Amino acid sequence: MTAAVEPATTVTLWFCPDDRLAPSLATTLAAQWLDAQERESAGQFLFERDRRQYVVSHVMVRRVLALESGIPEGEAVIWRSSRGRPFLQKPAGGLPRGGRELDFNLSHAGGHNLLGVVRRHRIGVDVERLDRGEQELAGVVQAFAPEEREWVAQAPPGRARDVRVLRLWTLKEAYSKARGLGLGLSFDSFSFQLDEDRGVRGFRPPDDDLSQRWRFVELEPVPGVLAAVALMAGEDETPVLELHHGFPWARSSARRVAVPPAAALPGPV
Ligand SMILES: CC(C)(COP(=O)(O)OP(=O)(O)OC[C@H]1O[C@@H](n2cnc3c(N)ncnc32)[C@H](O)[C@@H]1OP(=O)(O)O)[C@@H](O)C(=O)NCCC(=O)NCCS
Repeated sequence: MTAAVEPATTVTLWFCPDDRLAPSLATTLAAQWLDAQERESAGQFLFERDRRQYVVSHVMVRRVLALESGIPEGEAVIWRSSRGRPFLQKPAGGLPRGGRELDFNLSHAGGHNLLGVVRRHRIGVDVERLDRGEQELAGVVQAFAPEEREWVAQAPPGRARDVRVLRLWTLKEAYSKARGLGLGLSFDSFSFQLDEDRGVRGFRPPDDDLSQRWRFVELEPVPGVLAAVALMAGEDETPVLELHHGFPWARSSARRVAVPPAAALPGPV
């Protein structure tokens, strides 16, 4: 008898700028798909551009969840943990497209939206624009671990240093969001060692976690926008990541991105 082979874990990512969905259509879809709480949140923004981002990102969540799970957009029940992390409520009989587990995570920044979806595992994503201003980025660095602050300081001020800050920041946010901890996780309690160009060479987790449970992917979906994905996966798995661009009307052709194996920082000797 041959052992059942587990299908490869597929991580589906959707990157959708706000301007990929016409405002009038976004409003129509929001009226049909968003729940009362989402509609109330959408109505509370001071600026139209923030309202638009909220509406586009949330109709995108519901559309992608419908594609992946088979639950119609307006029927998905999305609940939030005590720390604010959204989850899809699983129907008692399982998901219409099969399986029981489906995790997702959303990030939005300055008109760009990134959504990650995976079955059976936990995912966290973060997207940030590079043009945030040096002062804001300098403030962010204060929250990093000492070895990360040192690595950032080794780069000359300007774009090279900003890239280092944002690479670390997106990875830290993605990890924190995968764990659902938000502000409850101190950003200096874990650290990353990065390759010069792209890629995580080492990960020192917080005291309550293990490095080998985590995979990290860095992306630049469009020039000037950096993103990171944190995925919890078994050590013997080889997950596949598929990156889609645009609004998820249908499963478009995707760019395949390799998910590197887990990386650990050498412990004290
Ligand atoms: C709030 C937080 C979840 C993300 O905030 P952010 O980076 O400003 O926003 P993002 O756009 O990446 O993510 C927001 C989305 O994440 C999701 N989210 C909310 N709380 C979450 C949590 N606890 N865990 C995971 N995802 C969460 C929601 O979908 C939210 O969007 P929505 O409210 O429109 O539904 C959290 O990571 C946080 O508090 N981070 C701040 C940590 C920090 O100190 N950073 C600065 C130093 S590096």
